[in-house]
Amino acid sequence: MSKLATETVTSVHHWNDTLFSFKTTRDPGLRFANGQFVMIGLQAEERPLLRAYSIASANHEEHLEFFSIKVPNGPLTSRLQHLKPGDEIFVSRKPTGTLIIDDLKPGRNLFLLSTGTGLAPFLSIIKDPETYERFDKVIVTHGVRSVSELAYAEMIERELPEHEFLGDYVRDKLLYYPTVTREPFRNQGRLTRLIESGQLCSDLGLPPLDAAHDRAMLCGSPAMLQDLAEMLDARGFKVSPHIGAAGDYVIERAFVEK
Ligand code: A2P
Repeated sequence: MSKLATETVTSVHHWNDTLFSFKTTRDPGLRFANGQFVMIGLQAEERPLLRAYSIASANHEEHLEFFSIKVPNGPLTSRLQHLKPGDEIFVSRKPTGTLIIDDLKPGRNLFLLSTGTGLAPFLSIIKDPETYERFDKVIVTHGVRSVSELAYAEMIERELPEHEFLGDYVRDKLLYYPTVTREPFRNQGRLTRLIESGQLCSDLGLPPLDAAHDRAMLCGSPAMLQDLAEMLDARGFKVSPHIGAAGDYVIERAFVEK
C-alpha cells in the first residue's frame, strides 16, 4: 500500500488574509492520537510536495481538519490556499508527534500553550474526552498578533460548550485564554510575560503554576518554544525526553515555514 492516501477536500474556511482551515475526507483506516501530525501535500513536478501538519480534528471525527498559514511564496501553502471542495490532497498514513496526553504525568491542571497555528493540535486535544477525565481544568491559550488571527474562538467559546457529548466536560473544565500582542484586546501581551507575571493564572482564577501539580503542552514558533521551555524548566518542570516517556510537559514546534 502506498505511504500516502489521497483525500478529498470537503470545505475551506479563510479566517483572514494569512490563515485558513480546510476539511477533508478521512481514510477509515487512519488511526491517530489527538495532538499528532501527518504529512500532507500536493503533487509537484516530480514527486509529492509534503509538509507536516497537526491534525486539528479529533480522532473520533469522521473527517480530517487542518489549520494553515498562507506564505506568499511558500512552495506548498501558496498552492494549498487555493484549495476548493472536490480537490484532492495527499495525507500520509503514519501519524506521529510528541503532543500526546499519554506522555504527561498525572496532574491537576493542563495548560495548552500555543501561538499562531500552534493552536491546531490543541483543537484535537480539547475534543478528547480523556483530556477532561485526566485533568481538573484544561486551559487553552492562543497568542496572536491581531484579533483577526484568533481562529476557532467561536468554536471554543460557543460550539464546544453546547456539544452533544463533550458539552458537560467543556463547561465544567475548559478555560480559553486568547491574547493579542499588536492590537487592543481584553487580554494583551505575550504568553511568556503573562505567565512570568502570574497574570494568566490570576485572570483565570487558578493557583500559580506549580510543577508538582500542573502539566503543559507547548506548540508555537521556535522562539516561543525556547522561551517558554526555559521558563518552565526554571520552575522545576521536566520535559518528556522522548515519545513514550512521561514528563511534566511536552513540546512541538508549529510547522511554520511552508
Ligand atoms: P509579538 O507580536 O510580540 O511578536 P508569530 O506570528 O511571529 O509567530 O507570533 C505569534 C504570536 O506569538 C504573537 O503574538 C507574538 O508576539 C508571539 N510571540 C513571538 N515570539 C514569542 C516568544 N518568544 N514568546 C512568546 N510569544 C511570542
